[in-house]
Order: sequence, then C-alpha cells, then structure tokens
Amino acid sequence: MKGFPQTREWLDFAAAAKAANSCAERVRVIDAAGLKVDVSAQRLSSELDRAAEALLKFRGLDAARKALFSGEAVNNTEDRAAWHTVLRDPAPPPAVAVERERVRAFVQRADTERRWRHIVHIGIGGSDWGPRLAISAFGYMGQWRDIRFVSNIDGHAIEGGLAGLDPHDTLIVVSSKSFTTTETMHNARRALEWLRSAEIADPFQQFVAITANPQRAIELGIPESHVFRFWDWVGGRYSLWSSISLPVALSVGSEVLAGMSAGANEMDNHFLNAPITANAPVQLALAGVVNRSVLGYGSLGVVPYDTRLFYLVSYLQQLEMESLGKSVDVDGDPVELATGPAVWGMPGTDAQHTFFQWLHQGSDGAPVDFLVCRHADHRWPEHHRQLLANCLAQRAALLRGKTRSEASDGSANDSLAVHRATSGGRPSTLIVLPRLTPHALGAMLALYEHKVFVQSVIWGINAFDQWGVEYGKIMASGMARELAGEPSPEGTHDASTTYWLQRFAGTK
Ligand code: F6P
Repeated sequence: MKGFPQTREWLDFAAAAKAANSCAERVRVIDAAGLKVDVSAQRLSSELDRAAEALLKFRGLDAARKALFSGEAVNNTEDRAAWHTVLRDPAPPPAVAVERERVRAFVQRADTERRWRHIVHIGIGGSDWGPRLAISAFGYMGQWRDIRFVSNIDGHAIEGGLAGLDPHDTLIVVSSKSFTTTETMHNARRALEWLRSAEIADPFQQFVAITANPQRAIELGIPESHVFRFWDWVGGRYSLWSSISLPVALSVGSEVLAGMSAGANEMDNHFLNAPITANAPVQLALAGVVNRSVLGYGSLGVVPYDTRLFYLVSYLQQLEMESLGKSVDVDGDPVELATGPAVWGMPGTDAQHTFFQWLHQGSDGAPVDFLVCRHADHRWPEHHRQLLANCLAQRAALLRGKTRSEASDGSANDSLAVHRATSGGRPSTLIVLPRLTPHALGAMLALYEHKVFVQSVIWGINAFDQWGVEYGKIMASGMARELAGEPSPEGTHDASTTYWLQRFAGTK
C-alpha cells in the first residue's frame, strides 16, 4: 500500500512505541499453548496497545487470518494457499489423513522388522531444517537407528554422509518439495551410485521420496509405495507438518509427530482466539515491528538456553528471512518501511562467550529472543539452575545496563568505569517452555510461524514466496555449465566473475 508510513494508524503506532518505556516495570507474560511468553522487556503502554489494535484493524488482520486458515490463495504471486495449519488439524481433509497414515504404517513396519540401521537424509532448506531440529531436540541421547543429514552440494557432505555405513542396511530418504533442487538431485544420484556399487540388486527399494512432485520421483525409479507426498499449498519452510517429518518418526518415534502437531494445533487455536494483548504471536509480531521499523534494529538474536535446540536458529532464519526478506508489498509497491530483520544466534551459554559482548556494548545492539525450559531432562539440577540463572541474568543485564557510577570502583580516577558501563535498554522476549516435549516444540514453532504471518500483514508483504532465491539458483546453474566448457547461457558477467570462471575452468 503506497503511503502506508504516512497513514494515521502507522504514525500513531510509531509515536506510541517511541513514547512507551521498556524497563519491564510491568509484567506481561502470556500463556499460550503451554508456553509462557514474556514481552515485559519490549515497548509496552496502554497507548501502544490501543494504537496496535487500530493498526491491526486497519491492516485487516482478522480477514487475513481467516484466509490463511481456510486455505485461500494467500500466496498471491504463486496463486497458492499456505495451508500448513490444516496439516496439524486433528480432523484434516481426507488426502492429508491418508498420507499421514501411510507415513505411520511405513514407520511401524520398518520398526517391527527392525529394518534400516542407518538413514541418510538428503534435502535442503525447508526439506532439511525441520527434521534436523526435531531429531536433535528429541534424539540427543542417540537412537538405535542413526541418521545423517546431507544437504550441501559440497561433495564432502555426501562423501562424509555415506562413509562407513553398511549400504545393505541404509535407507536413503530424499526430501524435496519440487524434486528438482540441484543439491538434492546430485546427492541422491551419488547415494544411488553408492548402493549400486555395493551390488544391491534393487537399490530403489532402499529409497524413499518425500515430495509435492511425486511423478518425478517415480520417473527416477522410486517405487510408488515409497513415495510420500505433500502439496504445492504447503510452503517448503512450513512443511515440517507434512510427510517431510517421516525421518523424524523413523528416528525418534511417531509419537513425537503426534505431540508436535498437537502443540502446534493448540497454538493455532490460541492465535485464532486470544485477544490482542494476550495473543502471543501477535504480541511478538508487534514487538518485532516496533524494533525493526520504529527503533531501527536491523537484526534479531535468537538464543535458546538448551543445546538440544541448536538447529532452532537455522530453522528460524529460513522461516523469518525467506518469509519477510521482501521490500515490495503484495501489490508490487515499495513497502517504504524497514521489513524483516536478519536473524542469527546460537544456544546459550555458548552464545555468551561468543557474541554477547557485542550485544552489551556494541554500537548497534539487537533485540534478543531468549528461550529456556523450566525443567530439564538430565540428572544434574545444579546445571539447570546455572542455565536458568544465566538466561535471566543476561536478559536483565541487557535491559538494565550499568551506569558509569555503578561501574566505578569508587576511586577518583577509575579510568575503567567507562569501559565497564553498559547502556542497557535492549529489548528482549523470554519464552519459557515447561520442558522440551514434542508438544512444546510444536507450539513454539507455530508461535513463530504466526508471528511472521502477522508481521507480513502489517508490512503488507507476501510471506510465502521467495523469488530472490531463484535468481541466484539460475545463475549458479548457468555458471556450472560454463565451468564444464559450455557457452554462457547468461551472456556476459562482470570482469571479476569472468576472471574466476576462466581460472576455475582452466581456460586462463
Ligand atoms: O532456498 C530456496 C528453497 O526453494 C526453499 O524455499 C526450499 O525450502 C528449498 O529451496 C528446498 O526446495 P525443495 O524442497 O523443492 O528441494
């Protein structure tokens, strides 16, 4: 919408956000699907609540949410729905239920027969991060069936992924919505060659495909009974709720999928029904818009105080940055506001010894999402007390800061006080999971999905396409052909690119 930043609704919202304080003087902890979401260290005031409500009404959140949940074509540039919520509905459409049952039966049979000691999972982006995250969250103690993830085109990835495995007892799972992604197709071919070189009579019996393009998988030779489908109305980065989670069930059990779906579904209902000030995804979204478009923070730190959530950062990077990394709105007009921030992070406490210095005293700073489990699943309560204390302490220090006089040792010429002082006032959110259960993880991922959706509604952008990624993919495939000695399909390049193409091709 042209001129959005000049509208009364935006100006009131921005003014209220600037005037609101962020000293956590009032506590706003939202209960959502078993999670506690504390936004007290974000900008809060009654005026801001009123302005937010008017802004969301103006931007049509209610209608947009209804369209999302009813499977309308909310992805307007591809004329598709983004109906991931229906995948976790306890009463999904028949096609979804059938596929869910096929996955369950396949896994049950493999378990009963104790088949496949090893799994090599081949997929990238949305066909990789979700299973990786869920398996590292719930398989951190190791499982009888081990799984390796191969995503990268770098040949070391597939070489290392296959190394040392028994080809006779290995299942290759190829996950790709399109079944055309370069990395995945190359790696799948290498895995096929590996099985063939072990003289396995029918190597495709050891292949499973998960895709929205089943025809292509069948053409490759994978038996139809090993092809699990999902649909073009499921975005890659929202596909964990589909057959894409088959390796999760093989690795850590089908009950994990059921628990995650139940948690996500509960968050869906919370998002649909909770009032704005008690609606966790909406409050996270508003805080994010304030931080990005009003206060000018260019990035968001994500720090899960749980090493099992190591892959959460990558998962959220794709979710947030592919969804919100846009500068034009659904009509193709410039958004005229700063949109989706860069997302980065790592588990605490490692993060504290890596980049927290920058958060405390760097010139830019960034809002941070802190995540922690109230209860741990290990045997050492002292470790968990320390972890909780670190999480709360870092958050409080970022908020409170330390003045020069507080930092001083009291002597008249304490020259280090200025170095010890920190500005404080850094916004953050604290998300507390009761413990790391499938239900809690599912709820948390849905929380972020809906947060991203609300932000896309406020900024007026399509959260479900990713045209920018396509450009680089096309260029790479052209350059790969050039390196193989074929003429450039893209025409000429800049001088440096031409120089390196010639050097790498050995023609100069
Ligand atoms: O990175 C671009 C992208 O298209 C993602 O959106 C997607 O998750 C990923 O590539 C993998 O695509 P596919 O599942 O089709 O192999």
